[in-house]
Amino acid sequence: MILASFHRVVALILLVLVAQLETQQRNLTLGIQRGQIGITIVAFWLKSVSDSPKEDITAKQRMLDFHLGWFLDPLVYGDYPATMKNIVGSRLPFFTENDSKQLKISCDFIGLNHYFEFHVGDLPITFSKYGNDYVRDISVRGLFSKSLLQRDSTSSSNPRSLQRLLEYVNVKYKNPAVVIHENGFRSDGDNCNAQALNDTERIEYLQSYIGSLLLSIRNGSDVRGHFVWSFMDCFELLFEYKSHYGLYAVDFNDQKRKRYPRMSTRWFSSFLAKEKNNAGITSY
Ligand SMILES: *[C@@H]1O[C@H](CO)[C@@H](O)[C@H](O)[C@H]1NC(C)=O
Ligand SMILES: *[C@@H]1O[C@H](CO)[C@@H](O)[C@H](O)[C@H]1NC(C)=O
Ligand SMILES: *[C@@H]1O[C@H](CO)[C@@H](O)[C@H](O)[C@H]1NC(C)=O
Ligand SMILES: *[C@@H]1O[C@H](CO)[C@@H](O)[C@H](O)[C@H]1NC(C)=O
Repeated sequence: MILASFHRVVALILLVLVAQLETQQRNLTLGIQRGQIGITIVAFWLKSVSDSPKEDITAKQRMLDFHLGWFLDPLVYGDYPATMKNIVGSRLPFFTENDSKQLKISCDFIGLNHYFEFHVGDLPITFSKYGNDYVRDISVRGLFSKSLLQRDSTSSSNPRSLQRLLEYVNVKYKNPAVVIHENGFRSDGDNCNAQALNDTERIEYLQSYIGSLLLSIRNGSDVRGHFVWSFMDCFELLFEYKSHYGLYAVDFNDQKRKRYPRMSTRWFSSFLAKEKNNAGITSY
């Protein structure tokens, strides 16, 4: 029941976007406010755990439809993916013809928050066990288990994942303008000691993902921007203060919340400044 209303929330978000468009349309056309309207979605890349049975491949596509298609299909094609309509049935809200028409022109760009890929396989989940919800509808394994919260083999940093995601969005969704709104590296534990400040892994991550982005742009993806998550350590939605993504470390035990630049700060600022030898840390 709760997750059935999940679908309604998404439908509502999409329709708010349409309403935004209607109220802002006049201003935008008049050029009074040269703003752009877009929506940002969490966008993992999905990989199937195996090529056989073919159910695993189908599971990967099903997950892509439920994960990305849930938003992108309405925004590009005016309706939910066929997979979702078949599986969710009457629990899925529907769009009127007008909604569909407006949805299709509601976004100037798509924002993507991308961190890593999930490896998923087929796992038929019975009604009795999980009820009528999003997890049962998707029926994959390797998704909501430990992988989101722990580093293990079911999720991994792989810069190719960003390239595959962008290629998929390009080919399947008519190459929309894209902004990578979040992309970054997570570290755990004590965040302010010398070792934690010398975050070579974060540099490697950012360098490889930005490299991957460049390959996508060269291959035709319309990527307009990339933002590193995050400028400094902060309260994380999933990890509270236990994990850190910042280019700057913050000492949360210090009343004054003292900040320390990590090595990645130096790397990133020299990268942005186009310094040739990246402050002497090109080797990462
Ligand atoms: C449209 O522009 C006018 C004039 O600048 C402004 O007062 C109004 O708030 C704008 N409306 C929207 C929805 O942005
Ligand atoms: C659909 O949109 C048109 C034009 O904006 C409007 O005239 C019509 O009343 C709308 N139809 C419905 C059913 O909302
Ligand atoms: C940071 O770590 C790298 C490799 O782990 C090491 O080569 C380098 O000397 C360290 N730099 C500092 C300033 O500690
Ligand atoms: C480039 O994009 C095309 C589809 O547009 C795809 O078939 C091809 O594999 C991509 N190449 C690389 C190197 O990503």
